[in-house]
Amino acid sequence: MTRKVHVETWGCQMNVADSEKMLSLLQGMDYVLTEDEKEADLFLLNTCHIREKAKHKVISRLGMLREMKKQRPGVQIAVTGCVAQAEGAKLLKEAPQIDVLVGPGKIDELPALIQKSTVEGTAAMATGFNKPGDELKRGHHDHNTGTVPPTLTGKNEVTRFVNIIQGCNNFCTFCIVPFTRGREISRQPGEILAETRRLVEGGAREVMLLGQNVNSYGLDLVEKGDLAAGNDGPFVELLRQVANTPGLQRLRFTTSNPHDFTRPLAQLFADDPRMGRYMHLPVQSGNDRVLEVMRRKVTVEEYRERIRWLRDAVPDMAISTDLIVGFPGETDAEFEDTLKLVEEVQYSFIYAFKYSPRKGTAAARMPGQLPEAVMDERLARLNALQDSITMRQTEAECGAVREVLFLYESKKSPGVFYGRTEHFRLVRVESSRPLVGECLPVLITGGNKTALVGELADRITLH
Ligand code: SAH
Ligand code: SF4
Ligand code: F3S
Repeated sequence: MTRKVHVETWGCQMNVADSEKMLSLLQGMDYVLTEDEKEADLFLLNTCHIREKAKHKVISRLGMLREMKKQRPGVQIAVTGCVAQAEGAKLLKEAPQIDVLVGPGKIDELPALIQKSTVEGTAAMATGFNKPGDELKRGHHDHNTGTVPPTLTGKNEVTRFVNIIQGCNNFCTFCIVPFTRGREISRQPGEILAETRRLVEGGAREVMLLGQNVNSYGLDLVEKGDLAAGNDGPFVELLRQVANTPGLQRLRFTTSNPHDFTRPLAQLFADDPRMGRYMHLPVQSGNDRVLEVMRRKVTVEEYRERIRWLRDAVPDMAISTDLIVGFPGETDAEFEDTLKLVEEVQYSFIYAFKYSPRKGTAAARMPGQLPEAVMDERLARLNALQDSITMRQTEAECGAVREVLFLYESKKSPGVFYGRTEHFRLVRVESSRPLVGECLPVLITGGNKTALVGELADRITLH
């Protein structure tokens, strides 16, 4: 009998990609996706542990589902993702309403665990990781069948995610990810190319290669002797090969750690227009002492050098970043250095976060944890500065003609389409004919800090 699953995804794109994989596994068990909670037989919560707030959302959602389960005892709850890995058996104890708990390294076991919990009537769990060097097993189900995994919302089928490397070896002192995702394990290039080809044949126009630290892609494969080192390193080699997928219009990747960012990678943006003219390069702080205590392994000057490589290659390169305010011991003057860097680089946008202590990380044990009010004030100043920069850029865009890849149509207002420029700015365009999946010139007429507004300029030729 067909059963229905309701999928809820928090956190980064890797979780979105994992949710799609899990949905595809569940379809193999005769589950179909439902957006309507009332008819769901299974709730799948794919969770994030990056900051305390992200974890709270999961805990409060679990509370709501416990009440619901009292009315509908047959319903099952599966908790997956980074909270599942970090909390494991402790979470099962605290939240007995959970039927299945699966860490990000054990996704393949989800169907078996659901089966086990159904048959035995008790909770089933699997956490932990493959050892580095083990064959990466995830994603094999869709390689075997050759089918395109489903999207979760149907909102954006133009951009699809392809996981290229799991885990992270960096251990930045604030970050939980190495604990929730394990060590770096790269997928074989052949698998990545095959998956990309299938997604593009299935209608994707843009592919985003994913990993917590994509720049170190393949280093483990080279070490094992599975891959030749090549002159420009395995990640640049991989990008060159994936870019040649027939029908692929744009190729993007995230996230890059500046430590492993190389000049040939910057040069690739100049050599291949499919790479767009945008990249996300997280810096976290504009102060050397803070960067060192964060264990980011680059200085501000080394970070600037990477920005120069990019802008030497592509002068109008748009760059975004992640920043943390209120890292333990951060002084006012050190925070000012972050403001200076933001002003200097002229980011197109930033993701700024208040530092959130994560149990088990080195920074959580450091002295000088700052009061919430100090972090609130710093965050507000930083965001206000970036807003003014983004608004200046928006004004400068007016009158420009940009090539826009259209990603989705507004559900609330049919005829309103959203796409992104090569600089990754979101653009809103009204049109009586469908635009999704097309790459078209758009005249920018206005906008705000979140989105530009434009009109189709089909007859204008791009230079
Ligand atoms: N792998 C990426 C980052 C992944 S986490 C990189 O190295 O850049 C995404 C962002 O969350 C980080 O860049 C950081 O800005 C933020 N973040 C991570 N841990 C955090 C914490 N404990 N408190 C606040 N922000 C955090
Ligand atoms: Fe976390 Fe640092 Fe790894 Fe990024 S590079 S995932 S911030 S430990
Ligand atoms: Fe969150 Fe895990 Fe991603 S902690 S940001 S879902 S890797």
